[in-house]
Amino acid sequence: MTQAIDRPDVASTASGADPFPVRGVDHVLFVVGNARQAAHYYSTAFGMTCLAYRGPEQGHRDYAEYVLVSGSARFVLRGSVRAGTPGAEHHARHGDGVLDIALEVPDVDAAHAYAVKQGATSLAEPYDVTDEHGTVRYACIATYGETRHTLVDRSRYYGPFLPGFVARDPIVDRSAAIAAGTQPKRFFQAVDHIVGNVELGRMDEWVEFYRRVMGFTNMAEFVGDDIATDYSALMSKVVADGTRKVKFPLNEPAAGKRRSQIDEYLEFYGGPGAQHIAVATNDILASVDAMRAAGVEFLGTPDSYYDDPELRARIGPVRVPIEELKKRAILVDRDEDGYLLQIFTRPVQDRPTVFFELIERHGSLGFGKGNFKALFEAIEREQERRGNL
Ligand SMILES: [Fe+2]
Repeated sequence: MTQAIDRPDVASTASGADPFPVRGVDHVLFVVGNARQAAHYYSTAFGMTCLAYRGPEQGHRDYAEYVLVSGSARFVLRGSVRAGTPGAEHHARHGDGVLDIALEVPDVDAAHAYAVKQGATSLAEPYDVTDEHGTVRYACIATYGETRHTLVDRSRYYGPFLPGFVARDPIVDRSAAIAAGTQPKRFFQAVDHIVGNVELGRMDEWVEFYRRVMGFTNMAEFVGDDIATDYSALMSKVVADGTRKVKFPLNEPAAGKRRSQIDEYLEFYGGPGAQHIAVATNDILASVDAMRAAGVEFLGTPDSYYDDPELRARIGPVRVPIEELKKRAILVDRDEDGYLLQIFTRPVQDRPTVFFELIERHGSLGFGKGNFKALFEAIEREQERRGNL
């Protein structure tokens, strides 16, 4: 009931229940230039397992789609098999990127009706799709840029992924490496949060969108331009569902001396979109070692970050010696609830747009605010190398 105090204009049911309950992120749909090769990359470099596929062989005439999983995280990689499809046009505009952050909900009709009543744009009215494994109900609403949220109720479905997809063998057999202990069984277990970059001056509008349309609430973390570097200012707020399972930080560029990393993203992606996907790992050291060995490039961190006595005092004891973090350029941040370890990849496609974060949480519910400055400086070194600063 306290939610009503925070959200006076959000309609609640008679019982005070969440007006837009979500079970979690169902899957993240990436549009890519070559899904077959992307599936190989996410298998080898991210340790994911290819679970399902659909394409022309299944009568799916426009696209080849590969489903990769790691723990509860599911990625769908969509490549166009011919020109002129909406996916091919999306790819021409944005390059590889996130088209859809699909949310699992217990009641698609109620969620869609609520969202539309609260001002969301409907991209698809509720509908069923059935195959021999059962039925899934879907609807879809628009969010920032050309990004969308498909709403999924899979409670009556028992197939490998979603109707129309067929099970397929993993692309890469990692069993020998896992048995030998040279690779963890999974490099990560879940999606932790997905960050959206939105237009200059529109962050609060999108925070309000998630509050009004999905009943999400603000999390404490707020990043103003006060902690920005000279060049790379941004503003950031975080919204989350009532259970804190779905967390969406939203960034907008702020005025700095020169072009910020958010401006660079908006220019090269061609508008607002998902900036990074943070995946949760329970052993970030093993994950980083395995991913580096497979060729994933991470942002560097200067030695001065680890040698700073202020940092050592601020973070206190963590589960591994700081030297182990320094060796791998893993960042650490602490708040009143605990601490977190995190590291960011370089962009995973040619455009300087989408990247990944690995995060290992020990109590902390934050997003690494204490690291933003060190992180910005690392990103600026990369922007400089690309001639975009
Ligand atoms: Fe993050």
